Amino acid sequence: MFFALMQLLLVILILPCAHTLSRDQFPPDFVFGASTSAYQVEGAANEDGRKPSVWDTFSHAGNGNMYSGDGDVACDQYHKYKEDVQLMANMSLEAYRFSISWSRLIPDGSGQVNPKGVQYYNNLINELISHGIQPHVTLIHWDLPQTLEDEYGGWVSRRIVKDFTAYADVCFREFGDRVKYWTTVNEANVYAVFGYDIGMFPPQRCSPSSLFNCSRGNSSTEPYLVAHHMLLAHASTARLYRKKYQGFQNGFIGFNLLPFGLLPKTDTINDLKATLRMQDFYIGWFMKPFTFGDYPDIMKKNVGSRLPSFTQKESNLVKGSIDFLGINFYYSFYVKNKVSTLQEKNRDYWEDMAVEIERINQKGISKDEVPVTPKILQGLLHSMKNAYGNIPIYIHENGQQTPQNSSLDDWPRVKFLHKYIESFVDALRDGLNIKGYFVWSFLDAFELIRGYEASFGLYYVDKSDPNLRRQAKLSAEWYSNFLKMKPMDPKITREIEKNELVLSHKK
Ligand SMILES: *[C@@H]1O[C@H](CO)[C@@H](O)[C@H](O)[C@H]1NC(C)=O
Ligand SMILES: *[C@@H]1O[C@H](CO)[C@@H](O)[C@H](O)[C@H]1NC(C)=O
Ligand SMILES: *[C@@H]1O[C@H](CO)[C@@H](O)[C@H](O)[C@H]1NC(C)=O
Ligand SMILES: *[C@@H]1O[C@H](CO)[C@@H](O)[C@H](O)[C@H]1NC(C)=O
Repeated sequence: MFFALMQLLLVILILPCAHTLSRDQFPPDFVFGASTSAYQVEGAANEDGRKPSVWDTFSHAGNGNMYSGDGDVACDQYHKYKEDVQLMANMSLEAYRFSISWSRLIPDGSGQVNPKGVQYYNNLINELISHGIQPHVTLIHWDLPQTLEDEYGGWVSRRIVKDFTAYADVCFREFGDRVKYWTTVNEANVYAVFGYDIGMFPPQRCSPSSLFNCSRGNSSTEPYLVAHHMLLAHASTARLYRKKYQGFQNGFIGFNLLPFGLLPKTDTINDLKATLRMQDFYIGWFMKPFTFGDYPDIMKKNVGSRLPSFTQKESNLVKGSIDFLGINFYYSFYVKNKVSTLQEKNRDYWEDMAVEIERINQKGISKDEVPVTPKILQGLLHSMKNAYGNIPIYIHENGQQTPQNSSLDDWPRVKFLHKYIESFVDALRDGLNIKGYFVWSFLDAFELIRGYEASFGLYYVDKSDPNLRRQAKLSAEWYSNFLKMKPMDPKITREIEKNELVLSHKK
């Protein structure tokens, strides 16, 4: 009885404290921001000299029959950047992660620089800086210039290394006095697998398959080739930055991956090994070269001669070439061993990995929502720290999906952000080297998986309004209160507490 009473008392005492989440629980140099990418928000696709990227081509050809729409207008940030930066400043956002459209800056991918492109990014960067908002810039977010795709197959060819480095050189030269955080490639692993193995996303290359009708490609070889060229392009760019710019620009250069949370389906040794194998294929593919200068042994074994190899010189160049790693985190999966696929003759990437996966769901949420699994993310970050060292991590993307037409009172997003941000207090105390957190996305953007049907934005963009009016969702208000260290509106606090039980009983 006494203990029961004590417990009750503790619950009463602890519960309200659990929700006094505030920015000052984080170090001052931990940065809180929001993300977008060029094609998803800029619009002005055919203006001021910009030429198409492979993503424009994919969208105009019908987005692989998955949804309709394109980024021709998107949120029109190209014309509305001042208004958008004002919204960021009003909510006390500390950083904005955006990407540069390569084909806006250098329309043919190589050669002539477009002065209008330089001017736009200068304007945006200056506007951010004048409001005290740090620009974090990604160089490529899926949108390779179509000209390079047509000319030599883009990432499939080694020629991309030289062109990418030259493009980055222009960016460092023009913007590096103000931009201190550079990410070369966004979601390199997803780009390689979904663009070149499955063929679901641009540039839609794959072996003939029943799922997607690719007109070109080879799923047995190209994902590995493309990833290899991404590693070499990054390494070459990092060498350039360090030699020519870092000394006086004092910035950092990193890379971005999208890991999944992975749990073994059963606790059998085979499923355990399959989970580690998938982690090696999906993350070690890039992190082993960055950390040790070579691919994981299991990849060499299962992929054989289809896996490119590094010369000693390349290995030295790739090793240690990231100052930080950006992580985009959304979904988690159970992993089951499936070695039978290793018998296939013309195996693709998934068959080389020899696993079967099943998405981890959460009871009581709608099918659009992303399960809230901060514990799985923490486990993932600890395992990455053990495997690849304690390099600085930026959570570059994390966010909740709701239908585009759902209410501005976006409770699922508020709860999602609250739970993840709260979990980083523990994560930092446990020694994880997390340096920043960016909500995906600042605005309702053109999504690669769902177009305009579903959205992740803190701000709603009214597509029926010719001015594409932005409206703050509740999540924008919540994030702003958090950043301004204001006490939470009791209405919000009560609602989060009401849902605590549901949230803590996941799966
Ligand atoms: C920013 O905040 C100011 C002061 O609260 C307000 O007058 C202004 O309308 C806000 N601007 C935007 C774009 O929300
Ligand atoms: C892919 O490349 C491999 C190795 O060169 C070759 O054996 C295979 O036939 C190719 N597959 C397709 C679909 O072109
Ligand atoms: C692929 O092509 C086949 C035959 O033309 C067609 O039946 C199928 O619907 C196509 N699949 C996709 C995903 O477009
Ligand atoms: C939102 O759109 C979906 C799909 O078009 C529709 O089924 C649903 O009724 C709409 N909801 C609202 C609140 O308008």
